Amino acid sequence: MSRYPLSARLIHWAMAALMLSQLCLGVAMVGRWQPWTTPAVQLHKVLGVTALVLVLLRLANRLRFRAPPLPRDLPAVQRALARASHWALYALMFALPLTGWAMQGAAGLPVRVGGMVLPSLVSADLARYGLLRELHAWLAYGLLALVLVHAGAALHHAWVRRDGVFAHMALWRRRRAAPDAPAPAAVPAERRAPEPR
Ligand code: HEM
Ligand code: HEM
Repeated sequence: MSRYPLSARLIHWAMAALMLSQLCLGVAMVGRWQPWTTPAVQLHKVLGVTALVLVLLRLANRLRFRAPPLPRDLPAVQRALARASHWALYALMFALPLTGWAMQGAAGLPVRVGGMVLPSLVSADLARYGLLRELHAWLAYGLLALVLVHAGAALHHAWVRRDGVFAHMALWRRRRAAPDAPAPAAVPAERRAPEPR
């Protein structure tokens, strides 16, 4: 069975955790001001810039191999939608950090990461800030919606179709029973191994 290379699987799950954390952190920090809001915004910026570096590495790695083929019995439209949604996820993984970074420049605020001050992507301008701030939020909610569909589809493949698509990205292989081992129900109770306590 073909799978994504280990490098791609590791970066997929690391970035999935990172992007989901960023969505939660973003929503949490724009609520009512709390004593932890300022450090949370700083953490959000650092994690966002980290995501930008990771997605650049990920794309460079991704261009070195072809994705594992989807099952042949999957309708062509569904296969095309799956591939298109993956590229849309890549686009959003770039667009979110870039709009976040640009919006800080438009607000005239520095982006500090690990003792460095990143250059501004755009010049300070209040109207531009408003636009980028709005765009950043819309892109974030677009990403959330797409991730929900994506994760739902992945779980549908894993639990309903059981067609091996989830295994393309899984970190571990599921252990299969030896082909000649009797089915558990066929083993009389007195010959079954004791349950671990
Ligand atoms: C949290 C639940 C998630 C699950 C269960 C999941 C599962 C999967 C699976 C099974 C695949 C392989 C699909 C195939 O072979 O066609 C895949 C691919 C992919 N996933 Fe996820 N994923 C999750 C979250 C995310 C998140 C949060 C992102 C990005 C924001 C993401 C981005 C991608 C991308 C871009 C691909 C295509 C990989 C490529 O072709 O390079 N996933 N995911
Ligand atoms: C990894 C990608 C990122 C995601 C998923 C993300 C997500 C979010 C979300 C969901 C919000 C709240 C939107 C709302 O409800 O109004 C937000 C706000 C914000 N984001 Fe991001 N963001 C990312 C990257 C960045 C980066 C790289 C920066 C800056 C360098 C940044 C700066 C901000 C700021 C300043 C706010 C608004 C805080 C406020 O108004 O108090 N974000 N982000």
